[in-house]
Amino acid sequence: MTHDKKITYQGIASLRPQLNIGLFGFGCVGQGLYDVLNNSQGLKAEISKICVKDRTKSRKIDKSFFTFEKKDILKNGNHDLIVELIDDAQAAYEITGEAINKGKSVVTANKKMVAENFEALFRLQVKSGSSFLYEGACGGSIPIIRTLEEYYDNELLGSVKGILNGSSNYILTKMETDKLGFEDALKEAQALGFAESDPFLDIAGYDTKYKLCILSVHAFGLILKPQDILNIGIQNISQFDINYANEKGYRIKLIANARKVNDKYQIYVLPVFIPKGSPLSTINNEFNGIEVEGVYSDKQFFVGKGAGSHPTGSAVLSDISAITYDYKYGYKKLKKRINGHIPDFSKDKKYLDDDFIVKLYIRYVNGKDLLNLEIANVVEQYSSSKYNYVIANVIFSSLKKIKQTNRLFVCELEQF
Ligand code: HSE
Repeated sequence: MTHDKKITYQGIASLRPQLNIGLFGFGCVGQGLYDVLNNSQGLKAEISKICVKDRTKSRKIDKSFFTFEKKDILKNGNHDLIVELIDDAQAAYEITGEAINKGKSVVTANKKMVAENFEALFRLQVKSGSSFLYEGACGGSIPIIRTLEEYYDNELLGSVKGILNGSSNYILTKMETDKLGFEDALKEAQALGFAESDPFLDIAGYDTKYKLCILSVHAFGLILKPQDILNIGIQNISQFDINYANEKGYRIKLIANARKVNDKYQIYVLPVFIPKGSPLSTINNEFNGIEVEGVYSDKQFFVGKGAGSHPTGSAVLSDISAITYDYKYGYKKLKKRINGHIPDFSKDKKYLDDDFIVKLYIRYVNGKDLLNLEIANVVEQYSSSKYNYVIANVIFSSLKKIKQTNRLFVCELEQF
């Protein structure tokens, strides 16, 4: 692909303003955005400055675009829009906070930054009136945030659940279909640009949890801290588990769950045995799939590439386009719930329900590691010289006592 020296596209004549973008980060997603913006039609937007950290890296575009000083963008009044695509969540928050405070519009794809700082970022938006969009932070190319905000604005939602991490879904797919080992499958996911720079965030369910926090705002109007939500990942899975699931007619998927039960919400991340043939079971590789269930509309299913340079760059581009018509999230569910007064959202965790029973498959190395779990009853137990597992009904809250060092593989059976 050849690239113009000036990263601009003058599309068909329109009343939309020309946007001058200051970009932070030129990694996987930043370069993906560069490509899709350069090939888009009808969008009048120009990236005039890119702030990066690494002074030694060779770049595929002219070096006059780059700066190593964030003030060259943040203190320069010429940029109408800040696009933040760096890796470091704390630095991303500082950049985003400063920009919103100054009344600038900001687009980001940083789910960790948004999830960890949501309340402060919401308050800043209320104060400054800026647009702050982050469609690329959840589900990659799937337009789920605006769909929840706009299409389901008046629909009572019963649940949102799905596969939100492309890397772990890629690993699960390759382990099952190509019989790849976990480490080899992870290496492929990294080489393809799907994984986080710390891939533990992907495989241990943290990345999924950050995305689930964001979806909970737009689906239910809840502001939850990531530390209030349980996440168990796939880091301890083995071929034995995959074969077991297969024999019983299931595929294992890492699932983000958020469902309303009476007046509370059960929100967590766990691997789940998904019946073969059901929509979530058909989602392979880096694709994500999200099932939204409305009280009246029933179930809808959204599928798309959940990770990767161009799919995520496309979601960022769509947010940039939305900025040109002054789009802001209405936070309709949130505003309906708080009824005009901004409360202390740290109390939102009182809406979480962790006092329920889950049916689990638990493969373990040492039986002592199960002692912390509150097991209501054992349904099945298996022990051999190589593998041990138990299928049991467990009090959900006791799962918080599992330690990473326990090396348990925990997988939910018979979802609600
Ligand atoms: N590491 C993330 C994933 C990137 O694998 O889904 C997209 O958010």
